[in-house]
Amino acid sequence: MTVAIYPGSFDPITNGHLDITARAAKLFEKLIIGIYDTPAKYLLFTTEERVDLARQAVANLPNVEVESFTGLAVDFAKEVKARVMVRGLRMGGDFEREFNMAMLNKKLFPELELVCLMASMEYQFLSSSLLKEAARLGGKIDNLVPRHVAAALSSKGSEQMGRIIE
Ligand code: PNS
Repeated sequence: MTVAIYPGSFDPITNGHLDITARAAKLFEKLIIGIYDTPAKYLLFTTEERVDLARQAVANLPNVEVESFTGLAVDFAKEVKARVMVRGLRMGGDFEREFNMAMLNKKLFPELELVCLMASMEYQFLSSSLLKEAARLGGKIDNLVPRHVAAALSSKGSEQMGRIIE
């Protein structure tokens, strides 16, 4: 059985992430979304909230699981016996960062293969940080995230939302 991980911050999970998830779930027998607990950025949602939002979002995909992880993504891959790491790529800025991460991950765990899926056209511009900024400024985000994520975003107070762009 080929197990793949799809690691990220998922703060929060968006329709762009879900597009990658649904496509990757067709390629591998099991896909585990790995939610990194301490990315070096301000987080709007706690690890538990990010896991919960992601779990609700993938409830319709039977071969997809959601777990949080601490430490290196490659160690998480080893722990869950994954042979593949999935990442989504948008046009432009993503490539250099992804390439650097891929090279380091390859050094750390040479047997792990990276599979990058190109983001679909409608999500090329979508990132969790732009989404949070749009939500904070009252933009219409309902076609960018599942309904429960939109509700979770609107439940955050203006003080927390204000810190996103600090
Ligand atoms: O959604 P993001 O923020 O682009 O995801 C980045 C993530 C979580 C995949 C990356 O920061 C990561 O793998 N973090 C875990 C720690 C680690 O393995 N660092 C070395 C990466 S080369």
